[in-house]
Amino acid sequence: MATKIKNRLNNLSGREWLPLTRSAYVDGVTRPSEELDWDNVLRESQGSIVVMSKATPRDHLKKQHPATFAEEDARRLVRMFTQEGQHVLDPFIGSGSAAIACVLEKRACTGFDIYEQWVQLANERIRKVIDYSPYPIRIEAKDALTAMKQMDAESQDFILTSPPYWGILQKTDHKAKSERSKDGLATDYGDNDAYDLGRINSYDRFLDVLTEHFREWIRVLKHRAYTAVIVSDFRHQSRYYPFHAHVGECLEKVGMTLQGMVVIVQDSKRLYPYGYPTTYVPNICNQFVVIARKL
Ligand SMILES: C[S@@+](CC[C@H](N)C(=O)[O-])C[C@H]1O[C@@H](n2cnc3c(N)ncnc32)[C@H](O)[C@@H]1O
Repeated sequence: MATKIKNRLNNLSGREWLPLTRSAYVDGVTRPSEELDWDNVLRESQGSIVVMSKATPRDHLKKQHPATFAEEDARRLVRMFTQEGQHVLDPFIGSGSAAIACVLEKRACTGFDIYEQWVQLANERIRKVIDYSPYPIRIEAKDALTAMKQMDAESQDFILTSPPYWGILQKTDHKAKSERSKDGLATDYGDNDAYDLGRINSYDRFLDVLTEHFREWIRVLKHRAYTAVIVSDFRHQSRYYPFHAHVGECLEKVGMTLQGMVVIVQDSKRLYPYGYPTTYVPNICNQFVVIARKL
């Protein structure tokens, strides 16, 4: 007979425990963001804004890539930080979500990914949305750092991206990994050890390389232009990594000025009873958009 482990932390049942492990609490906000009373939200949030993310279900093409962001969120950011026809750079383009947002919002986009397979996927997804864009959409299979060194200084109006979260996709305790392999889907980006940021072993080294990328970002961005970096925090073994804070620090190290954070609540994410019933382990169900500016 299986022994019942005693809950030594609190008086909660499993059913009560699970929702309390969400890393974002949405305080009474139940309406979609577009219907919010923005004056009231801005007054009460004192600068940090919670946005409910209504990610559309991932179609079979988008699902091929293991870590994507929602086009809807990308479109909001593109709308906020650029004008029609301006140039957006996504140095880690993956399945092409930022490029699709640019197509739909009538912006030009340059994207890089170290793996040819994701560049092909991105192009296939873009073709499904539109067969002609009045503004150039250019996606190339390249190491972003090398590629950006070839770009003109001050040529980009906005950088919108989501970098690899260190090597978190390689970690064996990552639950989504087992679900994806069951469905025959990729569980990491690929195996190009030389350039893939997701394959750097040490976290400190990973942040150093990311900072090298940021040095090129600030060079190619126009004066007063913004970057929005969509990331989430993560856990590895018993440690919690406040990745969004580290991204902010690294951006400031190269001379960018932090402008703010947006919290995207991923309310539909599946919850796992990780630490139940002995240890508090959060279900990370939010992303941060780290917003910085070249001043
Ligand atoms: C978090 S994913 C981006 C997902 C994308 N935002 C989307 O919605 O599909 C990060 C991507 O960076 C790519 N990558 C890793 N190292 C790279 C490098 N040095 N240069 C360019 N791309 C790289 C990975 O192959 C991966 O597709």
